[in-house]
Amino acid sequence: MSEPIGIGVVGFGWMGRVHTQAYARMPHHYPQAPPLALVAVADDVPGRAVDAAARYGFDRATQDWRDLLDDPGIQAVSITLPNFLHREVGSAFAAAGKHIWIEKPVGLSADDARAIRGEVQVAVGFNYRNAPAVEKARELLRAGRIGRVTHARFRLLSDYAAHPEGALSWRFERDRGGNGVLGDLGSHGIDLIRHLLGEIDAVVADTAIFIPSRPRPTATTKGHQRGGGEPGPVENQDWLGALLRLTSGARVSLEASRVAVAEQNNYGFEIHGTAGALFWDFRRMGELGVSTGDSYQDEPVRTVFAGPLDGEYGTFQPGAGIAMGYDDLKVIEAYRFLRSIADGRPYGATLDDAIRSAEALDALERSVATGGWVSLAG
Ligand SMILES: NC(=O)c1ccc[n+]([C@@H]2O[C@H](COP(=O)([O-])OP(=O)(O)OC[C@H]3O[C@@H](n4cnc5c(N)ncnc54)[C@H](O)[C@@H]3O)[C@@H](O)[C@H]2O)c1
Repeated sequence: MSEPIGIGVVGFGWMGRVHTQAYARMPHHYPQAPPLALVAVADDVPGRAVDAAARYGFDRATQDWRDLLDDPGIQAVSITLPNFLHREVGSAFAAAGKHIWIEKPVGLSADDARAIRGEVQVAVGFNYRNAPAVEKARELLRAGRIGRVTHARFRLLSDYAAHPEGALSWRFERDRGGNGVLGDLGSHGIDLIRHLLGEIDAVVADTAIFIPSRPRPTATTKGHQRGGGEPGPVENQDWLGALLRLTSGARVSLEASRVAVAEQNNYGFEIHGTAGALFWDFRRMGELGVSTGDSYQDEPVRTVFAGPLDGEYGTFQPGAGIAMGYDDLKVIEAYRFLRSIADGRPYGATLDDAIRSAEALDALERSVATGGWVSLAG
């Protein structure tokens, strides 16, 4: 048995917990995976890292992420911090030779994402591409089962910021949250589009801030709860609507919203081809709507369950139709990250994918500023 890969987790909010639980569960699902050890956790909120170490078994806890930088017992880190810290922390760990599993969108811009490049493996948290039904869709697309893709709609609709009294957290500030819903949800959409349909040629977009001011959080405010403090300005986008031309010639519409009342994690796609269509809804993650045949008109849609032959499904369940969960997608991501380190070659979403996604988001913003199409070519 090889030496365990020492793991550090930097930022122990929602994603820090999910990454840690994924590391803990990974050996159960992937006994062939390289062994790992939870070495250290860092979070600047007093007590949070200490509590995480006690609950999840890290050897040590700290409030300062820099303590992990030159720890010889750490070979890999999860960076699960707010977006504005991705660049500084990511580039420091890359320079220190630590492999990195970092959350999307990776910084505030394509420049930030590029700054993290180093001689290390960098895995990125574009988890929706790991869903077995999405992998099945990719296989069907590659096999030409719906003909040539002509047009598609991708949606990432959420109500997490729909309450006008919801706290003005870092997510709503330009300097710390970047471009708002573009990086938060739009980045997932761009990654799914690229993963399933190929590269983007040009974009045109519109954005909006529908709730221009929110109460600042108080000392007791948690997450998206009501703020309770003085009002402050929302500095980044609540909504994105975009048209994309792909290099394949396909046309795609992408909508992302964080203020869509009645939409809870309504993420998915509808893809039309010359001879069929595919439909996926994250909330029914194991199901894929498939329309294939030779009727063209009045062609029915079948619901197909992801099963053991689709992506990593068989690692979790023995037969089709048993629901997998969001956290399982992160177990898959953890495995691919550890395998990338062991094999010295990437599996799953990489820094290049994050850079391409961020370049598309930058182009969407340029389109809003200019009011016209922006090319991504070159
Ligand atoms: N892949 C997904 O589906 C998904 C879902 C949610 C969030 N995310 C991404 O994950 C990242 C974190 O989001 P979250 O929802 O976990 O946020 P969060 O606010 O729940 O957690 C962030 C944590 O970082 C800590 N932190 C902040 N500054 C720090 C510092 N200087 N040093 C140490 N710790 C510090 C905070 O105390 C907090 O515990 C973001 O980039 C977000 O876009 C991805």
